[in-house]
Amino acid sequence: MPVSEGWHELHRRRFAELPFDCGNDVDPGIVDSPHVRDWSRRKTTDDQQRIESYIDRFDLRDRTLLHVGIGNSGLARRLHKRVKAIVGTTVDDPEIRVAHALGLPNYRAIKHNKYSGSTGIPAETFDFIIDNNPAVPCCCIRHLADLFSLYASRLGSNGQIVTDREGLQWSWPGAHERWSFDFDDIAAIARATGLNAYRVTADIYVLARSAPERPARMPLLRHGLRRFRTLPADLASQFLKRARRAARNMLR
Ligand SMILES: C[S@@+](CC[C@H](N)C(=O)[O-])C[C@H]1O[C@@H](n2cnc3c(N)ncnc32)[C@H](O)[C@@H]1O
Ligand SMILES: [Zn+2]
Repeated sequence: MPVSEGWHELHRRRFAELPFDCGNDVDPGIVDSPHVRDWSRRKTTDDQQRIESYIDRFDLRDRTLLHVGIGNSGLARRLHKRVKAIVGTTVDDPEIRVAHALGLPNYRAIKHNKYSGSTGIPAETFDFIIDNNPAVPCCCIRHLADLFSLYASRLGSNGQIVTDREGLQWSWPGAHERWSFDFDDIAAIARATGLNAYRVTADIYVLARSAPERPARMPLLRHGLRRFRTLPADLASQFLKRARRAARNMLR
């Protein structure tokens, strides 16, 4: 895919230590051996957990998610009952097997290298695109541009690309230290992609076309209300009667 002048300029100005084009069009960004990469039986990372907690605070009933780097499929297990659909991607067969074994009707796992363009990714757009390590394990600025161009092409009009401070900073053993990104790096990348970057919490960074929808402020209250709605009717009405009685007693 041809790379825009914005990315050439970004390379010169900000990422000159990194190669512009690695020349590998077969398997760009594949660095570790499969058994090191495979996350199918490993614990969800802290940065991935934070992203899931952020997304969990939205009303997801009509939302679609693209999860890049599904690992142990914890995101799908956590959110599948509340979302319309999840598409997940990985380069590792064991992760695909774990995803398929879950048998979730609205969760589809696809083998796809995120630096290799859009072939294989459904043509639809998504409300959330989740990638806790977009710069890992990237090989060059051209393939990084391909990744963000893929994400922009699959981002719904009010969609959010969600990533994390720690995940962006992390880089793999032996990698050039410049692959460790901070907020200003991702903000510059967002601009080259035609997007804006937002620091929505101390750790969560969002790329979007305009200021992203804010999640519910009080996740505990929201979860509490959701649980309350699922209580059997007589239990819920008993609870309400008691709450009213307690309020009346307090006012006497
Ligand atoms: C360290 S694991 C993290 C899994 C999960 N996101 C988490 O944080 O718990 C990295 C994930 O990225 C995937 N991955 C690595 N290189 C990739 C590439 N070039 N394209 C797409 N996915 C890749 C791996 O298959 C794995 O699912
Ligand atoms: Zn490359």
